Amino acid sequence: MGFDLDSSQRQLLGYRLIDRIDEYFSSLKDRPVQPPAGQRNVLPVPKDLPEIGEDAMAVLDDLCSQMTEEGFHIPSANYLGLTNPTPTYMAVLAEALVAALNPQLASMARSQLASTIEHQTVGWIAQRVGWQAGEYGGTFTTGGTEANLSAMAVALTQRYPQVANDGLIGLGKRPVVYASSEAHHSLEKSLAILGLGRKALRRIPVTERAEMDLAALEAAIAADRQAGLEPLAVVGTAGATSSGAIDPLPALAEICRRQNLWFHVDGAYGAALVFSNRHRELVQGIELADSITIDPHKWLAMPFAAGVFLTRHPEQLEPTFGLDTSYLPRAANSSLPDNFRISAQWSRRMNSLKFWLTLRVHGRQAYEELIDSQLQLAAYMESRILDTRVFDLATPRRLTVLNFRASAARELALPEEEIARLHHAIVQEVTRDGKQWISTTRVAGRSVLRMMIISYLTEKRHIDALAVNLQKAAKVVMERSFGATRPL
Ligand SMILES: Cc1ncc(COP(=O)(O)O)c(C=O)c1O
Repeated sequence: MGFDLDSSQRQLLGYRLIDRIDEYFSSLKDRPVQPPAGQRNVLPVPKDLPEIGEDAMAVLDDLCSQMTEEGFHIPSANYLGLTNPTPTYMAVLAEALVAALNPQLASMARSQLASTIEHQTVGWIAQRVGWQAGEYGGTFTTGGTEANLSAMAVALTQRYPQVANDGLIGLGKRPVVYASSEAHHSLEKSLAILGLGRKALRRIPVTERAEMDLAALEAAIAADRQAGLEPLAVVGTAGATSSGAIDPLPALAEICRRQNLWFHVDGAYGAALVFSNRHRELVQGIELADSITIDPHKWLAMPFAAGVFLTRHPEQLEPTFGLDTSYLPRAANSSLPDNFRISAQWSRRMNSLKFWLTLRVHGRQAYEELIDSQLQLAAYMESRILDTRVFDLATPRRLTVLNFRASAARELALPEEEIARLHHAIVQEVTRDGKQWISTTRVAGRSVLRMMIISYLTEKRHIDALAVNLQKAAKVVMERSFGATRPL
């Protein structure tokens, strides 16, 4: 079969797919996240590269069945795991439209309307941060990793304009960047890619609230200057990956101003709070940043990929990313920049349309309600889990992430590695039937159980089920480890 399907074939296949997606969406409130343990090592058919095609409807149906029955379902209301959401249905539709129209957002000349929609969407986010037109620049990215990389690249170019052409050779001094011990690993990756090296990231210890310790930060900056290094930037995290902690942003902004350092806020998760009037104060100070990472594919319910990089120094984007090419005409009369000149990408997918369409159809207030109800649900989860009397809260809860430790670890004064083993076993037990999903992580070096509210479909009944399962799992694991007499 050639690629050029006729209208009736397209309709048959398209309607079928919409039906399958609709069945899937209808199932999400009760769908197990994955098959039970022991049934997860499934192989996609076929094994060999298909030389000749098969019947499209049969293949599509098979694929849908296999992926929905045997896959891992992040959109399920039972997914209480990492920061990946249930996508809005409007976003699903926008993604199909983007694939069909395939706009190329590298340059204005070939995507006037699509690029303008994208710039408008970036503008809506910047406005919510508190930045006015003309005061900011930025683009959609593939996610927080690219946004953090962009921030580090722009900070470097702003400080050392010659680096974009000449590289780091000849710089003479070693630039260093500061972030908390809880900041995301994409910062180390960014510094490695930029040639500064992973060790250029100074990991600052955190307080018992898992927030960057300001005195330790100031001491590290002073020690590095003393040692002849060049402090370049501080990254404050708004919504740390493991704990949801928010670094003290206004105080970090003040340190950066005094020390003449670039202030980047990694708000991949927590910067979504700018869409809430009621809870905006949790990220107070974000507007003082020189640059910001925000991922609509986290708390704003977008499917992958949708990250955003914003900066208050739009004049630094072209020196960092801008190059001329002979193969692209410039758009006549465009007041907006070509995306390829202000970002790391060349070919650019329209990652903004899903967010634009969701906002057009549901409005900002839908996000206000989402954030509000998820924060309330997270508070409920905290009380339900504490009510089991089997767990202690490990980190104060700021957003929708919860960190817990098995109380027995404290009572028995177990060594940290033993606690990590217990937590791992509890998670194995809770996730064995595949219904729900949570994980373990470390916060400030200590093992914790981690769970979060991230799906707009999650309700109290899902939390109640998790609390019961966790209690049972802890009992099983404790009896296995310490004998049946061990009280919980
Ligand atoms: C705080 C933080 N920053 C950055 C990232 C990286 O974002 P992405 O996965 O979109 O590349 C994450 C991902 O979990 C994150 O939690």
